[in-house]
Amino acid sequence: MIENPPNDDSSSRVSTSDDIEVGTYLEIAQADRAQGSNSSIDERMKTIVILDFGSQYSRLIARRVREANTYCELVPHDAGPEILEDQDVVGIILSGGPNSVYEDDAPMAPTWVYDAGVPILGICYGMQLIAHQLGGTVARGTEREYGHAVLHKDGQDNILFDGLENEVPVWMSHGDKIEELPPGFKSMAYTENSPLAVMGNENGTYFGIQFHPEVAHTPQGSEILRNFVFGVCGAPGDWTPANFVNDAVARIKEQVGDGKVICALSGGVDSTVAAALIHRAIGDRLTCIFVDNGLMRKGEADRVQNVFASQLGVNLIFVDGTERFLHALKDVTDPEVKRKCIGAEFIKIFEEVAIDIGEVDYLAQGTLYPDVIESTSADSKASHKIKTHHNVGGLPEHMDLKLVEPLRYMFKDEVRKAGAELGLTPQSVNRQPFPGPGLAIRIMGEVTPEKLEILRNVDWIVIDEIKNDGLYDKLWQSFAVLTNTKTVGVMGDQRTYQYVVAIRAVTSDDAMTADWARLPYDTLARISNRIVNEVDEVNRVVLDITSKPPGTIEWE
Ligand code: XMP
Repeated sequence: MIENPPNDDSSSRVSTSDDIEVGTYLEIAQADRAQGSNSSIDERMKTIVILDFGSQYSRLIARRVREANTYCELVPHDAGPEILEDQDVVGIILSGGPNSVYEDDAPMAPTWVYDAGVPILGICYGMQLIAHQLGGTVARGTEREYGHAVLHKDGQDNILFDGLENEVPVWMSHGDKIEELPPGFKSMAYTENSPLAVMGNENGTYFGIQFHPEVAHTPQGSEILRNFVFGVCGAPGDWTPANFVNDAVARIKEQVGDGKVICALSGGVDSTVAAALIHRAIGDRLTCIFVDNGLMRKGEADRVQNVFASQLGVNLIFVDGTERFLHALKDVTDPEVKRKCIGAEFIKIFEEVAIDIGEVDYLAQGTLYPDVIESTSADSKASHKIKTHHNVGGLPEHMDLKLVEPLRYMFKDEVRKAGAELGLTPQSVNRQPFPGPGLAIRIMGEVTPEKLEILRNVDWIVIDEIKNDGLYDKLWQSFAVLTNTKTVGVMGDQRTYQYVVAIRAVTSDDAMTADWARLPYDTLARISNRIVNEVDEVNRVVLDITSKPPGTIEWE
């Protein structure tokens, strides 16, 4: 079976990610609030606020809290107190971060955090901040503590460790340590290298933990976070699929009013669920546009038409752009140019259709919460663009449409749950991601109708066998790549000279990092046999065993 190490980095680059590149997420969060995007939603959500001090694990904390059916928002460490008005904040978590609290320009928790009158949990740097800001002492440790450690409870009962054994395996990653507790705090647990690994104040409202409960290497970390969220903060655990559908529908109604919305469908989960939510909110004032770029998988275009027009009853405009895309791709071999050609053609077609529809006010976009965080976090600004992503949301500014982003506060798994709640089939909501430029970026060299046909047939076999062996839902993606290489083979008594295809299957949480999947040999054998037997133009199958990094998931 597939046995890959857990993937702790939860930063995200899913299908709609690269389009928002402006501003810090402080600005975006403030802009959201200025527009009053939450204000008339009757019930303010009971919310845990996570202040992001720059840890690579910050968004994992958010995911874990959401997994505990509790709404949370990850905000920059210097966010203002507005969120206290917008939401019913029941607790605050201070994330880890790369700084040392005693450095001159180290980020501090703003005073409103301590004035809010709600419980606080500091994780790693967050713990050191609580110690530092409330009168304790933090110093450089003699040794960095990194990796596995065993936490020993200090004897007394501790709500944070409710239900846990006396010894708890945890994951550490810190250089500094707390030397002196702030007044009113006591030590609650220690590890071999950290005499003060957990602290709490006497009235049981502020806690600091030196380890990372959010990563998979702290196996009971989710329970510890749940103890904080439920036991300490008293959160009701009401962030259920039904509620996040209601919440999204209420936000859409409020934002769109009597306006009209267009939504470009890609066939993927995000645009499907976004459209279904908007349809639930505003019915016929939504028009969906599906452009078949001729670069889809076998049967995909029919499937999308069927789901939207027949199952959901959504206004759907279907455009067969195959000829135009293939024409635009003629003689193009450079991967970046390919992507740009596809993007440009898509925009042209979309504009033409939009003009035909007449007056429209909003454009729907399937931006996810990790995209919002990713596109605006400090390190994403410095990060290099690896590939140009063509996405259905990357549409021209001059169309002057306002954006409606119903998935803006959801993680991918919540999107899938929302889809199921809206009545979409498991087949629609559990689909593996598929890139906007489609098979074009899985064909090395020029994209031709012949190569597309070969890859469609190969891809069909791969997915078929992966599904037959019950692996589809366990993999982030599984697909075939048509290389530009031909090799010699022998079939019967005949010498063959045909294409090499590569099988790519990865596990991942979010596509930012990925590991190649250890597919069972029997599955691989069946895939390989079927491909060379059923697809004449292929005589060799190889397996891609590269993780990301250093590889990317797609080949170009
Ligand atoms: P890479 O290849 O960058 O892919 O590791 C990460 C994830 O993004 C998908 N991908 C794309 N999605 N337009 C998309 O909508 C694109 O141009 C594109 N390129 C890659 C890829 O399938 C994987 O899930």
